[in-house]
Amino acid sequence: MDMGITNKVVIVTGASKGIGKAVAEIFAEEGAKLVLCARSEDLLLAQAKQLTEAHEVEVLPVVVDLASQQGVDDCIAATLARFGQIDILINNAGAIRGGGLLDKPDADWLEDWQLKLFGYIRMMRTTFPEMERQGGGRIVNIIGNGGRMPRAGYLAGAGANAGLMAITKGVAEQGASKNILVNAVNPGPVHTPRWDGMVSAIASQRDADPQQVEAAMVKNIPLKRPAEPEEVSAVALFLASKHASYMTGEIVQVDGGAANCL
Ligand SMILES: NC(=O)c1ccc[n+]([C@@H]2O[C@H](COP(=O)([O-])OP(=O)(O)OC[C@H]3O[C@@H](n4cnc5c(N)ncnc54)[C@H](OP(=O)(O)O)[C@@H]3O)[C@@H](O)[C@H]2O)c1
Repeated sequence: MDMGITNKVVIVTGASKGIGKAVAEIFAEEGAKLVLCARSEDLLLAQAKQLTEAHEVEVLPVVVDLASQQGVDDCIAATLARFGQIDILINNAGAIRGGGLLDKPDADWLEDWQLKLFGYIRMMRTTFPEMERQGGGRIVNIIGNGGRMPRAGYLAGAGANAGLMAITKGVAEQGASKNILVNAVNPGPVHTPRWDGMVSAIASQRDADPQQVEAAMVKNIPLKRPAEPEEVSAVALFLASKHASYMTGEIVQVDGGAANCL
């Protein structure tokens, strides 16, 4: 099926690992021109080389820290210098740490939100006028189930994700008259380096088997497993494609049915 993505300029934040890496791969398969952002130069360069060779697409790796407005500005400037336009933004870079009301100091909340909350807002704010100038565009925010299913031990994630769900809907309203469609994907647990790191940390704290720890962590999910990154990237591709032309302000759950059981 033609997704209408060929030659579109697509920015993927947090593209070097996990969900972002899978997003970059699926857009490369569709013939997009890709801008891949993350901090690890080695990983990004390897990823850019692999995608260029496998799919004969143009890939611009941008080594940048998106936890600051300067990083965002650098990313957009590099994109415009190379491709002159931005058709699709996939906001994905995030790394909120655990912690609850009594054990997480203000500094940790603020540091975590610089990337996952403000990074997404700044990327949208900086990209939006370019899309408006071009006559439209697509934004897909990879958010996370914590905003709908808050847990005491992941409060900063719950707050950022709930905020981003609301902000997605508000920006969608603002974008509608400008043909800028804004949607989100809400994953539950996804089998990425971030998830694996969390499982291993809990297993070593409890001196337990990581497989058993993971099974316990997904026991309340109807599908009884974490998603694979490709199960999230496929939905992001659909939302950015020509087939999602009448969708905006939607938050699509990709959570194995978890939120359905609330
Ligand atoms: N995995 C899950 O279970 C899950 C569930 C729900 C939602 N999510 C959300 O999905 C998104 C991706 O998660 P993931 O599991 O794929 O994470 P991951 O495996 O840890 O990958 C995160 C990506 O973001 C980049 N990144 C981190 N800090 C950055 C910074 N300051 N500036 C620029 N890039 C940065 C990382 O590269 P560098 O380290 O090289 O910068 C990496 O490419 C996150 O927003 C996360 O909250 C994940």
